[in-house]
Amino acid sequence: MKGKINHGSFVSIAQLTDIHLFEDIENSLVGIQTELSFQEVLAKAKRILPRIDMLLLTGDLTQDGSVTSYSRLSQSLDDFGVNAYCLAGNHDDLPVMQKHLPSEYVHVNRSLDVGKWRILLLSSVVVGAVHGYLAPSELAWLKDNLNAYPDRPTLIAFHHPAVPLGSKWIDGICLENQDEFWEICDRHPQVEVVVNGHAHQDFDQIYETPHNSVRCLVTPSTCVQFEPHNQKFQIDNQPPGFRHIRLYTDGSIETEVHRLNVGSFHPDLAAIGY
Ligand SMILES: [Fe+2]
Repeated sequence: MKGKINHGSFVSIAQLTDIHLFEDIENSLVGIQTELSFQEVLAKAKRILPRIDMLLLTGDLTQDGSVTSYSRLSQSLDDFGVNAYCLAGNHDDLPVMQKHLPSEYVHVNRSLDVGKWRILLLSSVVVGAVHGYLAPSELAWLKDNLNAYPDRPTLIAFHHPAVPLGSKWIDGICLENQDEFWEICDRHPQVEVVVNGHAHQDFDQIYETPHNSVRCLVTPSTCVQFEPHNQKFQIDNQPPGFRHIRLYTDGSIETEVHRLNVGSFHPDLAAIGY
């Protein structure tokens, strides 16, 4: 594996999510050409971050699950030259993704160690459905991993948000079995951060369980955004973006969202009949 991670005082992660690439490179989602906005977000991450140790891609990598979309994404990530760890969202086709995405810098590992931290990537996808669910096998795997590495601060990533975001329509399509997930996190104090996509918006909140306190992060899409706190589906005019996460050796984190310039990649509401 190339692109060895630099074990400095923190691990620098750029999270990119909900890329929604199409087989046809010129296709758009709500008037935004997803390949172009993705490339601009990648370029901005490279330009503004002093160091990127790894990319974390949290699902809906393609809109159509096509071989061409995954192959093109794979090539882009190889060109970027930083190890990228990828998980699937509801729009992805997992077998196609597992076959056509991995390459020199692109991985579909379910776990990795970076510095003192452990990162676990789960699948919350229910085939054919928009909402998420962590299957008993995923929860069992999570428990086993947490039991095996109690001393490593842990970041858990999957596609569907695990807490209500205060938006009725989105909360109805997030992780269905949130209680089961949080029961496990409650028993494993090394769980520090949960990172999701799916909601196409910035969300950053501490979730308190009886015995643990976990930072919950949701990140804007690299293309179209959804308006936060709206009870009905509403496209947001905010530009595409990504999240920078710094994992420190003492188990603490720092994070913020960066976006492209205001006005870039403006959604076209007429494209969805608004
Ligand atoms: Fe998405």
